[in-house]
Amino acid sequence: MSLPQQRTFRAPGRVNLIGEHTDYNDGWVLPCAIDFQTRVAVTARSDNMLVLKSAAFAEAYEFDLADLPKQRLGAWCDYVLGIAVVLQKRGRQLSGMELAIRSDVPSGAGLSSSAAIEVASALAFLSSSKNHLPGPELARLCRAAENNFVGAKVGIMDQFVSCMGKAHHALLLDCRSLEYRLVPIPAHVRMVICNTMVKHELASGEYNRRRAECEEGVRLLSRWYPGIKALRDVSLPQLEAHTRELPAAIYKRCAHIISENQRTQNGADALAAGNLEHFGMLMRKSHESLRDLYEVSCRELDLMVEAAEGLTGYWGGRMTGGGFGGCTVNLVEAKNAAQFSHEISEKYRSKTGAQPDVYICKASDGAIVENC
Ligand code: GLA
Repeated sequence: MSLPQQRTFRAPGRVNLIGEHTDYNDGWVLPCAIDFQTRVAVTARSDNMLVLKSAAFAEAYEFDLADLPKQRLGAWCDYVLGIAVVLQKRGRQLSGMELAIRSDVPSGAGLSSSAAIEVASALAFLSSSKNHLPGPELARLCRAAENNFVGAKVGIMDQFVSCMGKAHHALLLDCRSLEYRLVPIPAHVRMVICNTMVKHELASGEYNRRRAECEEGVRLLSRWYPGIKALRDVSLPQLEAHTRELPAAIYKRCAHIISENQRTQNGADALAAGNLEHFGMLMRKSHESLRDLYEVSCRELDLMVEAAEGLTGYWGGRMTGGGFGGCTVNLVEAKNAAQFSHEISEKYRSKTGAQPDVYICKASDGAIVENC
């Protein structure tokens, strides 16, 4: 019997324009997929082994599909393995195959390299078992793998936009209903992503802590507002009515989430109307809130945001992703983007001594199958 030829699947990373840490609070986010990709090439095997190789790591892994690990190994392969484990738990039959992974999504930079590897691998597994899932279901599957196998209690934003993103558009996602609206990004602007080069890998403990603080906020607020399920169900005046009765840190976390939800919905309208001045102002406010209330920024992110002020063609910017390092996203006129990149690099280097990577990005399409 001849084995099917190699097929390749790809999924992009993402940048979030506004709506940070709101996804796991049932709120709104406004990310877009970017032109950095993870590609997974699949070759069928005649045995029952799952072989995982990566261009970025020397170690390859082999597993018997009849006996996959029950727990994460603490290695790069966990993101792929997690998908296989979740699919098997859901009764999907997997057959022997080799996956060769190659990615140009910067890792540990807050640009969702993990979602990209999960989505591309999930497409590869599903296709080799002749299965298909609609994009939102695929995103849920990938999130479940990251939550339950890898152990990061992330929301749905990254996986969703990696599946469903559209070129030249941001995607306003309601993380409770998963309803979404595509918002055109004006052709004359670019997203300039500035990497502080501070890896945010150690941040997962803080991330899970923020999540727990938000849950505690809901628990305390439900004394006065019975029936609320998430911070999305609380308004700012309702929160302000109980400022003094809440522990200070819990109040600050709630104030960020509630105001960020409002900024995100307003931001989508401003972007759709081409009002970049207003959108830029909301991005700045978002950064301040993440820095002062949610406390997930760091000195380097703040310096990078400050370095953008006053540069020609700049509309607004903020830290993007989970925080504690990684990147800022800046909305910049296309004609000024190259000069902006050069000048912000110089300013950042003179303040920190570190040379940042700067990427001039456009919104791109979500995951697709290549050469099938
Ligand atoms: C990480 C998570 C997302 C989201 C962001 C913060 O990227 O994977 O689910 O919570 O942080 O907005």
